[in-house]
Amino acid sequence: MFFASDNSSGAAPAIMAAVAGANDGYQRSYGADALMQRATAQIREVLETPEAAVYLVATGTAANSLAVALTCPPWGSAFCHRHAHVAEDECGAPEFFAGGAKLVLVDGAHGKMTPEALAPQLARIGAGGVHSLQTGMLTITNVTEAGTVYTPQEIAALTALARAKGLPCHLDGARFANALVSTGASPAEMTWKAGIDILSFGGTKNGCLGWKRW
Ligand SMILES: Cc1ncc(COP(=O)(O)O)c(C=O)c1O
Repeated sequence: MFFASDNSSGAAPAIMAAVAGANDGYQRSYGADALMQRATAQIREVLETPEAAVYLVATGTAANSLAVALTCPPWGSAFCHRHAHVAEDECGAPEFFAGGAKLVLVDGAHGKMTPEALAPQLARIGAGGVHSLQTGMLTITNVTEAGTVYTPQEIAALTALARAKGLPCHLDGARFANALVSTGASPAEMTWKAGIDILSFGGTKNGCLGWKRW
């Protein structure tokens, strides 16, 4: 047993074999290959989202940064937990890709934002005209950075506050599968049925290839 981190281990043998198999033969490029179409279809099926756009990226940091950049203007605010990976572990990448957007840190015990802590932060949007926070997005992590888990109901309570202000909502699902097993919720219940617009669906911590080993 090695408890340092779930991305310290090598990739799962079945995944290495699948990658080697995918290397055979010839395919169309730039995402038009058959495997990408299969992956898209499977993700849409699992999430019960027949029209979802699916993009594969190399790391969770890239996925999170792109999600923030897509939903938050450079002058806007991305609301996240004080100890969120986007705030503490991504070396400013979300702010960089969003062109300078501000991360607004929300409190909550054991890695979980509470509606009581989020509401007053959201109330700051536009409160001082051009001087104050401007609208942006909300990002939640499940499983959280503290190893705790939000239920779909808890996620829905947070997204309801954000959506009432017109904010799109993102879920950092680096450990999404673990959150599903822990709560018994379906992927749909944990995401769009709970008000989530964009999901970073992690693979590295579930045996896929990652960029780091230490
Ligand atoms: C909650 C969370 N989000 C995102 C990431 C980023 O993933 P990556 O290391 O693939 O950039 C991690 C990695 O540890 C994580 O724990």
